[in-house]
Amino acid sequence: MKLSPILEKYRQRVEESLKEYFESCSGPDHLIEAMSYSLFAGGKRIRPVLLLATSRLFARESVDPMPAACAFEFIHTYSLIHDDLPAIDNDDLRRGRPTSHIQFGEAQAILAGDGLLTEAFGLMSRFYCGTDDMAVVDGIAELAVAAGSAGMVGGQVLDIVNTGNNIDQNELEHVHRLKTGALIRAAVRCGAILGHADPEELESLTRYAEQIGLAFQVADDILDVVGTRERLGKSAGKDLQQGKTTYASLMGIENSKTYLMQLTEQAKTELDKFGEKAEPLRAIASFIAGSILQAEN
Ligand code: IPE
Ligand code: IPE
Ligand code: MG
Ligand code: MG
Ligand code: MG
Repeated sequence: MKLSPILEKYRQRVEESLKEYFESCSGPDHLIEAMSYSLFAGGKRIRPVLLLATSRLFARESVDPMPAACAFEFIHTYSLIHDDLPAIDNDDLRRGRPTSHIQFGEAQAILAGDGLLTEAFGLMSRFYCGTDDMAVVDGIAELAVAAGSAGMVGGQVLDIVNTGNNIDQNELEHVHRLKTGALIRAAVRCGAILGHADPEELESLTRYAEQIGLAFQVADDILDVVGTRERLGKSAGKDLQQGKTTYASLMGIENSKTYLMQLTEQAKTELDKFGEKAEPLRAIASFIAGSILQAEN
């Protein structure tokens, strides 16, 4: 899926920095190879781009947001490796490549995920240890809470527990907000925190992030139905096969698309007070809404 030119520029910067930071990770060769295999398989880098684009809204930015941005991508990549495991979604394709456990075996895939998770926090603490700006500690806490038991991991657990059960829209929204929304919300908040956003700015950006975080998983649910394995670079049709309740199964494709458009439009209204500077954040909301069209045409 293609990003717009402004987002593509951010993505390229993230790509270069990920390579640079990854060089500071050491360990047994086959572990490093498995971590690198998934990290450099060509993800969209939406979470780091969100963090960078948010921190750019503020002239008060005092620390380099790039280590934090890359830490989010380390965590996200680990979450995908574990999500694909036989015990979870049992998928064989990710980012256009055989999944980690298909390529390296299950034990190595689990450990490659563990490595990326831990190195994410190593990366942030290494790069920020010399600063006297305490915002970095809040930024690290945002990532930890969003990735942990009250965030993404908690959402993955609820996703598994609910598989095969009929759940209503409120329950589904709760799962989506945790498993996918939490990390997206934290990426935006971390960018705002590192930029020393004032409380009102942080609140508007949090609302923006909550809407696009939910929109992101609604789009992912639709794509699972309307997308193809070739275009998505991951399996399609899997949610129905596994008995998952999704937005697509609950409200149908057309209503899900309408809901997706509503969420992304509402998200954009939260950016009004930031004017032109928020254009990259608007572009991300549009990208999420437009990803469905890209997959269909
Ligand atoms: C896929 O995330 C998993 C979800 C949380 C829905 P992305 O769509 O951001 O995957 P990559 O990083 O581009 O591969
Ligand atoms: C995954 O949701 C969310 C996380 C990885 C935390 P899905 O299971 O729907 O993601 P895909 O469709 O496999 O990318
Ligand atoms: Mg899953
Ligand atoms: Mg999955
Ligand atoms: Mg999915």
